[in-house]
Amino acid sequence: MIKLKDVSKSFNKQLILKNLNLEVKKGESLVIIGRSGCGKSVSLKHMIGLVRPDAGSVLVDGTDISTLKSEELDRMRLKFGMLFQGAALFDSLTVLENVGFQLFEYADMAFVQIKRRVSECLGMVGLQGIENMKPAALSGGMKKRVGLARAIIMSPEIILFDEPTTGVDPVTGDVINKLIRHLHNTLKTTSITVTHDMKSAYQIADRIAMLYDKQIIGIGTPDEIKNSKNPIVKQFINGDAEGPITQGNGSRF
Ligand SMILES: Nc1ncnc2c1ncn2[C@@H]1O[C@H](COP(=O)(O)OP(=O)(O)OP(=O)(O)O)[C@@H](O)[C@H]1O
Ligand SMILES: [Mg+2]
Repeated sequence: MIKLKDVSKSFNKQLILKNLNLEVKKGESLVIIGRSGCGKSVSLKHMIGLVRPDAGSVLVDGTDISTLKSEELDRMRLKFGMLFQGAALFDSLTVLENVGFQLFEYADMAFVQIKRRVSECLGMVGLQGIENMKPAALSGGMKKRVGLARAIIMSPEIILFDEPTTGVDPVTGDVINKLIRHLHNTLKTTSITVTHDMKSAYQIADRIAMLYDKQIIGIGTPDEIKNSKNPIVKQFINGDAEGPITQGNGSRF
């Protein structure tokens, strides 16, 4: 469904990804793990064409999106829903306007129909009756869930979740993880989640891929990752201070 092929990307002459290869299968839930600053969000943004590779290609359903013009890219993006890191809600808009944004902008739907669809999506993420609230009045966990509702509003084939549980308490995090897995199962989407929280990764993933030092250094089912012999993977998933991972090695602060 999605293939990053030999993708390299630099920002300000700093190489972030180097010949990165990653394939996401149709219908699977893939989780990308890795240290802060290693390029997880950048990898995710390549998949939806928000960042273009310097070299290599990004295939979505067989189409190389790195060469598409902006209108073609817009059309291709309709396949996607995305929960941005930090939710990225529009502060001046209500929950109704935030969640229904794409429908208000692009769909030929009456206001009452949009309102009904927004309520339906809010219901799916366990939030009801908050349509008229502004983001400033929501807790961090609520914002994430509103972001989730916005990500599924267009019934996308592919959903990208960037750090869905960062900054929320463990119980709320667990609720969000279960919700992501439930949405994945019921909506039959292809899901890609970025996180550095291993509990989330095990809960959400069919497969886990670890990004380290500009490349994917390990990929497999949660059990395969748990039993990985790779010392870098082992250190990361166990959260050990001692090991091959050191500051400045694979992560940039
Ligand atoms: N648009 C940009 N312009 C310049 N540098 C960027 C840009 N986007 C990302 N970077 C840099 O690329 C590196 C990887 O960033 P990225 O956001 O992918 O990290 P991450 O793995 O998602 O980290 P975190 O877990 O903290 O979210 C960082 O050094 C960041 O500063
Ligand atoms: Mg990130």
